[in-house]
Amino acid sequence: MNGRLGGRAALVTGASRGIGAAIARRLAAEGASVAINYSGSQSAADEVAAEVRSLGAPAVVLRADVSDPESADALVAKAAAELGRLDVVVNNAGITRDGLLVRMSDADWDDVIATNLTGSFSITRAAARLMMKARSGSIVNVASVIGLVGNAGQANYAAAKAGIIGLTKSVARELAPRNVRCNAVAPGFIETDMTAALPEGVREAAMQRVALRRFGTPDDVAAVVAFLASDEAAYVTGQVLAVDGGMTFV
Ligand code: NAI
Repeated sequence: MNGRLGGRAALVTGASRGIGAAIARRLAAEGASVAINYSGSQSAADEVAAEVRSLGAPAVVLRADVSDPESADALVAKAAAELGRLDVVVNNAGITRDGLLVRMSDADWDDVIATNLTGSFSITRAAARLMMKARSGSIVNVASVIGLVGNAGQANYAAAKAGIIGLTKSVARELAPRNVRCNAVAPGFIETDMTAALPEGVREAAMQRVALRRFGTPDDVAAVVAFLASDEAAYVTGQVLAVDGGMTFV
């Protein structure tokens, strides 16, 4: 198949909706076969798979909770087995459990670290073993501008996303000799289920900080992920690319 990712195989975690679903569709549109991971709604994941197939790309749907290291290992193995190879991994699965620091429970801290940070670590470790052997691969982690600048009420989420940035840079250094790249995107305010629930006042305050004066779309993020996944970014590794409409640049 033609396209920047023709003949490549990609695993996208948390791809049943939002940014992950947009990434799965975009990678497929660029020619990749796609493993669509989900943890909640199978019917939503099946719908994304149908869209991927309608673009002419093979798709498999794989249920796994990435916060469980054994499930994460099995997910990577299954994606590689079903697609026949694994060239691209996108660590997108993520949750929020917002709350002010002094009221944040241990469970809210642990859940966000387990899914967002440990999940990315486990998936990356398993994928790295395959990619190092193949001497090629691209890992793209979905961080957040919150991991760069912090946010009141999101100590757990900010710590996890900052951790993902450190993970990205370390993995980039460690795997570069084997021609495996690792980069991150740091989305700003993107219109998804995650942000739809925010009160109007919070949305308005956020908009004031966006230079381009619009919130991002999942497709805005997916386009940058596709670039980093492709050979067009062959000389790019260890980078964190903000996709935030000019919210955080200095
Ligand atoms: P969403 O809540 O719409 O989608 C998250 C996806 O991750 C869902 O498919 C969910 O089922 C999946 N997921 C959650 N826990 C999982 C687990 N343990 N195992 C496997 N899958 C799991 O969120 P959205 O907005 O699409 O976010 C996607 C990523 O982008 C997240 O990492 C989020 O932190 C990040 N992000 C989102 C921003 C936004 O404004 N929406 C801004 C910056 C980053």
